[in-house]
Amino acid sequence: MKFAILGSGTGSNAEAILSEWKAGRLGRAVPVLIVSDRPEARILTLGERFGIPARFLSPGPFKTKMSDDAEDDYARTIRESGADFVVLAGFMRVIHDRFLSAFPGRIINLHPSLLPSFPGLHSIEQAFRHGVKITGCTVHSVTPGLDCGPILGQEAVRIEEGDTLESLEAKVHAAEHRLLPAVIRLLAEKDAAAQQSAAQPVQGS
Ligand code: GRF
Repeated sequence: MKFAILGSGTGSNAEAILSEWKAGRLGRAVPVLIVSDRPEARILTLGERFGIPARFLSPGPFKTKMSDDAEDDYARTIRESGADFVVLAGFMRVIHDRFLSAFPGRIINLHPSLLPSFPGLHSIEQAFRHGVKITGCTVHSVTPGLDCGPILGQEAVRIEEGDTLESLEAKVHAAEHRLLPAVIRLLAEKDAAAQQSAAQPVQGS
């Protein structure tokens, strides 16, 4: 399963994925492209370090979504890289139909809470201020709504006495760095198994 990673910022999750891949622990999943909507994003610097093409692609004039033309451009560029699967790792824009329909059921997102609790922005802070005792992170399939697609994996994080927002953020991010590569590896295995069974000749009687 060849996949592209899309991110807008630091790229610590992309780094976790790429480190697992370099260490030979990503199974049948192969990263082939990094894309960012921000030309200065640190995530783009990972391309050179890991030997993968990394590109800024303009998202168009909007702040929180991409223009239709930009969604087409993203889809075309990702397809041309050979990827048929997309991992959103800190990509700070809502994805709409044009892009979703280019990779039906094949776009996943990482969210820093146990969905369906605390969707949207500042989820770790929301959980901390709410006083919940357990939060965590979620990987889900991307659908037209916000942070609401089918859940593929979760890791729980306990909020202990004495935790601060900063210490909680560190724990949630550490959980994300374990969860996302693990889910990608699993999905690639399922993908390979599905392709193999589709290629099996049907037994006649
Ligand atoms: C992560 O916390 C992810 O859950 C959220 O954005 C953050 C991205 O961090 N969607 P990084 O860019 O991978 O360091």
